[in-house]
Amino acid sequence: MRNFNEFTITDAVLERVAGASDARTRQVSEALVRHLHAFVREIQPTQAEWEYGIDFLTRTGHMCDENRQEFILLSDTLGVSMQVDAINHRLPEGATETTVLGPFFVQRAPEHALGADISGQLQGIPLLVTGSVSSPEGQPLAGATVDVWHSDNDGYYDVQQLEKIGDLAMRARFRTDLNGRFWFWTIKPAAYPIPHDGPVGDMLEAQGRHPWRPAHVHFMIAAPGYEQLVTHVFEAGDQYLDSDVVFGVKDSLIRDYQEMPPGVAADGTTMDQPYRHLNYDFGLKSEARAIRAA
Ligand code: BEZ
Ligand code: FE
Repeated sequence: MRNFNEFTITDAVLERVAGASDARTRQVSEALVRHLHAFVREIQPTQAEWEYGIDFLTRTGHMCDENRQEFILLSDTLGVSMQVDAINHRLPEGATETTVLGPFFVQRAPEHALGADISGQLQGIPLLVTGSVSSPEGQPLAGATVDVWHSDNDGYYDVQQLEKIGDLAMRARFRTDLNGRFWFWTIKPAAYPIPHDGPVGDMLEAQGRHPWRPAHVHFMIAAPGYEQLVTHVFEAGDQYLDSDVVFGVKDSLIRDYQEMPPGVAADGTTMDQPYRHLNYDFGLKSEARAIRAA
């Protein structure tokens, strides 16, 4: 086969990849070729634009190391991560909605006793976080692991300022008590821009977009027999709720970070200054109840 033109080359490539012995490889390869060729036919790139695209992807790769994953950021900002998340989390009634993991989760977060202060002595508005973990039917799940992480008062995660603060902070693992409950103290997170000093930042600027995420606390919750839940709880009223740069906000994940006067807090702590209180009751999806993709 030879002498392909702009109208015949797509079928020629499709024919070439049809020999893949693995059915999934064949399916993915064919879809990739069809969509990529359709994209090129639609935008009719000049040679210079094609070179710019290659250079953009090359710079994206060069930006990646063990601390920075620019390709995931690209996927996040183009809405692909949330699309993959949605496809893989068709949830039953009673199960908490999911959202992106993001790049700031670390495996080595310290395990703390319930009620601990995980602020690492960083300055900020005290925040009491309380909640529960249940099955979709409302049965409390004791001993579930609850990993949490969030930004500081200025919108920075610990891993972005380890030299300054010396150790991990504003992240921890807890285990729910016999009633499926957890609680801890920290400081109120702030909205923050995703890392935008690389090609993804250039793309956002060229597209006339800001790089901001609304303030949130991340949760990763696991219990035997249930699907791991990866989600956030966003602060009601945040100015970026409707323009989250990674499209991660869902109404069901927004809560008041309630302003509380000094006094005895819900966990019995006496507070001599105002603080905030965030409560969220999570529902996990049973592994057996996973709804298969159509
Ligand atoms: C985050 O929430 O930590 C996050 C998610 C996606 C991209 C960048 C940051
Ligand atoms: Fe985050």
